[in-house]
Amino acid sequence: MEEVGRIYGDVGLGQFHLTMLTPVERGDYLCVKDEIHGEVLCQLDDLRRKSDLDLDRADQLGRGTATPIHESLLGLARVIGYRDGAGLVKVPTIPFRPGAQVYRADDPLIAQVLGLHRHSASGAYVGMLRNHELPVELDINQLVQRHVSVLAKTGGGKSYLLGVLIEELLRHKVTCVIIDPHGEYGSLRQPSESNGAHARFHVEAQGFASRIHEYSPDATLNAGAKPLTFSLRTLEPRDLLIFMGLSNVKTFLAPLKSLLEEVGAVNPDYTAKDLVRAAERGEGPAMEILHERLEYVEQTKLLAPQGTSLRELVHKGDATLINLRGVAPDVQEIVVARIASTLFDNRKKAQIPPLFLVVEEAHNFAPQQGVVTCSRILKNIASEGRKFGLGLCVVTQRAARIDKSVLSQCTTQLILQVTNPLDLKAIAQSIEGLTEGMTEMIQALPVGVALITGGGYHTPLFCEIRPRATRHGGESVRIVEN
Ligand SMILES: Nc1ncnc2c1ncn2[C@@H]1O[C@H](COP(=O)(O)OP(=O)(O)OP(=O)(O)O)[C@@H](O)[C@H]1O
Ligand SMILES: [Mg+2]
Repeated sequence: MEEVGRIYGDVGLGQFHLTMLTPVERGDYLCVKDEIHGEVLCQLDDLRRKSDLDLDRADQLGRGTATPIHESLLGLARVIGYRDGAGLVKVPTIPFRPGAQVYRADDPLIAQVLGLHRHSASGAYVGMLRNHELPVELDINQLVQRHVSVLAKTGGGKSYLLGVLIEELLRHKVTCVIIDPHGEYGSLRQPSESNGAHARFHVEAQGFASRIHEYSPDATLNAGAKPLTFSLRTLEPRDLLIFMGLSNVKTFLAPLKSLLEEVGAVNPDYTAKDLVRAAERGEGPAMEILHERLEYVEQTKLLAPQGTSLRELVHKGDATLINLRGVAPDVQEIVVARIASTLFDNRKKAQIPPLFLVVEEAHNFAPQQGVVTCSRILKNIASEGRKFGLGLCVVTQRAARIDKSVLSQCTTQLILQVTNPLDLKAIAQSIEGLTEGMTEMIQALPVGVALITGGGYHTPLFCEIRPRATRHGGESVRIVEN
């Protein structure tokens, strides 16, 4: 191993300072050989060039007068740990000695301590450790049992990374339902165009045409999708209230029930239009609101005599896309509420396979401020879904705007570049073990590099995301061709 520096000053258990003989990049892995614990893995968290050049001499330098500058490169390193005889990661209990040599860590040590193994049975291969040829695989059981968040500023590569994750889930035959507000994920059917990166990352272009099932409330606009409808007859009055966007059950449930009974007595195969007519005839302020909301639901064409059945929607081992492109935001909320609660109820009764529910643009469906129709069910899934094998993945460009309780329930975070200070603060608050240095590094991450916390790893790591096997559907629209 190449020596890169020496420990100096006061040495703590968790971190130490080093003078550097050779520049090492922030985030690079280091090694200290300790007589008690053997090779201990560390990471460079911060770098500083210290010099004796004061303002006056800098001024002279500016005027062309030569002046000697004494400088040194100083680093702050964080101790990650070593594997003990039982294979557990431990941190030294006695600080390193000042003056001890610090080396650049080699790949076998990094792989051993971080636990980077190729092709484990339950691993989702998402890329390689930054600046190394070591594969990063996320533990799929952890993802599904402990929820995931994908956070980055707009254009940061969230949808690209999610595409990588879904490809891996499909490879492992994990059932997924994806709430796709922009209709971006239909491209998972098609293989990507291979380039140099595919060979480097050992990825082969592959489409999943037969394993993608797409539904949309607006199947006219979204031609590749089957219509997504909900059956009026099997809908509980409470669920119908959700569709209508009425959360005040106390006020509206009783009048709605009597309306349904009245209409059902005349014609058991009643339609939404029949309900609208009956509500129009009713009296009182509650009935007036019911009439207005029923009219609205009728217009959305979401209700059909035979709605899409859950059995039709969820395909074991495959991915179902709920394409909401072109659907009004309030209708989107209703659809998400209905699908999420049906999935949750059926998972509780084990009537559908364990699955992974992905919510893109999650700040719209579980906002921190204000209540939308589907917030409550998403919060319930975040806090209880794991008990019933319903994993949640939230994707957002505004970490500060998504419900904090949802965000903090995600034990795996995939973070790409984030620059907004409020979003950075929300991320720092919801993730344990994120150092100040890492928070700074998040602001400067290049496209395609993610900070991963959780996912089966005990320490956060930077990962170069592998190229997609399928085509990425979220390309930005080019305004000017070059
Ligand atoms: N790992 C990667 N490798 C190569 N290109 C990438 C990678 N990640 C993202 N890109 C490119 O960056 C662009 C933006 O990525 P993406 O659509 O995933 O961003 P986003 O975070 O989902 O944005 P938005 O918030 O607008 O939805 C895309 O054109 C994509 O091709
Ligand atoms: Mg996106």
